[in-house]
Amino acid sequence: MSTKRPWFYGRKFIITGGTTGIGFEITKRFLEAGAKALIISHSKEELEDAKDKLHNFDDKLETFQCDVSKYEDVEKFAKYVEAQKDKDFLYGGLIECVGITNFGPFFESQLKDLIYIIRVNIEGTVTVTHQILPKVLEKNGKEMTYLTFISSVAALAEFPYFGLYSATKVAMEHFFNSLSKELPKTVKLLMIRPGAVKTRFYERAKNAPGHDMRILAEKTKSYFTTPDKVAKTFVNAIIKKKTGIIYPSFSTKLQASLLTNRLIGPFLKKSYFKQIMTYNK
Ligand SMILES: NC(=O)c1ccc[n+]([C@@H]2O[C@H](COP(=O)([O-])OP(=O)(O)OC[C@H]3O[C@@H](n4cnc5c(N)ncnc54)[C@H](OP(=O)(O)O)[C@@H]3O)[C@@H](O)[C@H]2O)c1
Repeated sequence: MSTKRPWFYGRKFIITGGTTGIGFEITKRFLEAGAKALIISHSKEELEDAKDKLHNFDDKLETFQCDVSKYEDVEKFAKYVEAQKDKDFLYGGLIECVGITNFGPFFESQLKDLIYIIRVNIEGTVTVTHQILPKVLEKNGKEMTYLTFISSVAALAEFPYFGLYSATKVAMEHFFNSLSKELPKTVKLLMIRPGAVKTRFYERAKNAPGHDMRILAEKTKSYFTTPDKVAKTFVNAIIKKKTGIIYPSFSTKLQASLLTNRLIGPFLKKSYFKQIMTYNK
């Protein structure tokens, strides 16, 4: 990272899902670059753990326990943010990283697990955006503010066994793109579409009975990148004030363009689908 202070030096980023994986690495990079961070996640233990790991930045890091799938929790968080209204700082933006997946055949999956994916990925993201972003923008006035979302290459294709996850990413990309047309020009929208990333995402998957996404992850580990690489590209893009959709690396961008290519896409998908559906053989 360059020694020049980034534009967000001293500003505060609110990061949902900042305790582990991509969100944690993004938090770390922002702190290292001189920003402050307010991270939320639903597990108290994970928040404590993240705080321990980031103890060098104690004075710049705040945590708040909030399950984004629970409206009451988001309301409490909104009050916490509101209470900081008169404090002397600006926000860098709202960085939305929370996301979970299902895994396994749709009709073998428990309906409550499937609905929970929608509750966290869609309802949670919409609720946080609706209740928190206006408070961030009110405090920032005409200052530049980022609104960001961690999408996925899964938004570009239909994936058997975790189709609902893909659907939530497509829905949220459309949501954020539409929203950005309503918001003032000072709000910069950035979305990143990673491919497979080595995080706890796979162990947290809501599996259908007899299925385990960790086995698929283990079998396809050569395709995986690390969360710090994703975070590096993401934070660098914010330093450079980029907007729109980005990819963590050239190879992910290539994979995305091949997946959506009219001629190559169907063959590539067929090979991916075969891998997914025979993962435990
Ligand atoms: N890993 C991949 O291959 C991959 C690929 C493309 C996109 N993505 C996306 O990247 C984002 C981050 O995922 P990750 O891979 O870094 O996974 P991760 O390590 O499992 O991180 C997920 C984060 O979300 C938080 N979270 C989950 N449910 C929550 C809830 N109901 N309320 C509040 N916080 C909640 C977790 O907090 P707790 O500690 O409290 O559970 C954790 O901080 C997700 O949106 C995911 O869809 C991941």
